[in-house]
Amino acid sequence: MLARVAAEEDQPLALVEAGASAGLCLYPDRYAYRWTTDQGDVTLPLAGAPELTCRVRGPAPLPVAHPEVAWRGGVDLNPLDVTDPDDTAWLVNLVWPEEESRRRRLRAAFAVASAEPPHVRRGDLLEALPRLVEEAAAYGVPVVLHSAVIAYLEPDERRRYARLVSGLVEEGACRWISNEGPQVLWEVRSPGLGEPPGPAQFVVGLDGRALAWAHGHGTNLTWLEGPG
Ligand SMILES: C[S@@+](CC[C@H](N)C(=O)[O-])C[C@H]1O[C@@H](n2cnc3c(N)ncnc32)[C@H](O)[C@@H]1O
Repeated sequence: MLARVAAEEDQPLALVEAGASAGLCLYPDRYAYRWTTDQGDVTLPLAGAPELTCRVRGPAPLPVAHPEVAWRGGVDLNPLDVTDPDDTAWLVNLVWPEEESRRRRLRAAFAVASAEPPHVRRGDLLEALPRLVEEAAAYGVPVVLHSAVIAYLEPDERRRYARLVSGLVEEGACRWISNEGPQVLWEVRSPGLGEPPGPAQFVVGLDGRALAWAHGHGTNLTWLEGPG
């Protein structure tokens, strides 16, 4: 999705994460990727970087280059500091005991983020987003993104959030990539969405249009045939 936005806008991206926590999703240009497709593995390597892996089904437009990210910031009610050992120990503690490879990848991501800490503010996303989008616009095309966050809002706040970001998209102030449960953001839909293809699936949307299903932890992605 980021590669598509970068190609359409032909400018560096300024990422604004809603519910950023420690901001580890703000470094798509600093990770290596391995997508396992029906035709075999497709990789986007990056020397020394942690590798993110994903099983892909459907005609996903896999990127051939990393996006150029000019700014990374966001908001969280309780931002975590990747340079603070107590905060990183807390995040490591949240990984299930048998998932050693996730723990290793998490520690590698701390190193990536510590080298260039993100601008994550403390606050409520509903209040903070418009100002953050304005700030980000000085650096590149603002892209509001979030994963597993909107479920924490009350139902009326979820609707308010969808109206807020859709409004910003309509004004041309930002692009919007969402990754949330299918019952959470009813506004992010498309005719081809259908039923979730497996357990723990989130709807991945671009500017309010559903383009794919993805596992909540990103381990698999099913691109929808129609909107491709
Ligand atoms: C499950 S975590 C997801 C963190 C991150 N997006 C990720 O994928 O690793 C949800 C985050 O949303 C934050 N959050 C929940 N409600 C929020 C609100 N109203 N404003 C800002 N952040 C919020 C929480 O503090 C938490 O860090």
